[in-house]
Amino acid sequence: MYKVLFICLGNICRSPLAEALFMKLVNENQLNNRFAADSCGLLDFHKGDLADPRTRQIAIKYGLEIVHRSRPITANDFYNFDELLVMDEAVFSKVMEMKPPHFDSSQIKLFRNFDPYQPGTDVPDPYYKDIAVFEEVHLIVERCAANYLKALL
Ligand code: 4NP
Repeated sequence: MYKVLFICLGNICRSPLAEALFMKLVNENQLNNRFAADSCGLLDFHKGDLADPRTRQIAIKYGLEIVHRSRPITANDFYNFDELLVMDEAVFSKVMEMKPPHFDSSQIKLFRNFDPYQPGTDVPDPYYKDIAVFEEVHLIVERCAANYLKALL
């Protein structure tokens, strides 16, 4: 089983969406025996919370229910997962700092690098933005999740 962990700052907007969209594709393609996913954040401000209502509202519109509860990253995550997909450069730097020696830095990746249309560094943080940015983030994450799964196959 190849286990991937999606990581953002608060684990209520970007990474729970990435986890849900990735697992939807895994399920649709009957790949559950090969891939598993989870998500987490750097912060524990929202620990135990469902994803942001705006993230969930847009996901529901596209037929996706997000049931993940926010949790902060732990040292064990570097033992329990094969690959870490990070939502922006600031979070990437922190995750690199936390990385124990055994974990290969090539297994920590910027998720936006898998965007087939606009590859780049950051999935924008929508938390303090309006609903249009949440819509944009949904589309970006959807593209990246599909292209990332394709790259794993
Ligand atoms: P996320 O968005 O990292 O995509 O979950 C954020 C959510 C909450 C906060 C920041 C970013 N916050 O500062 O509480």
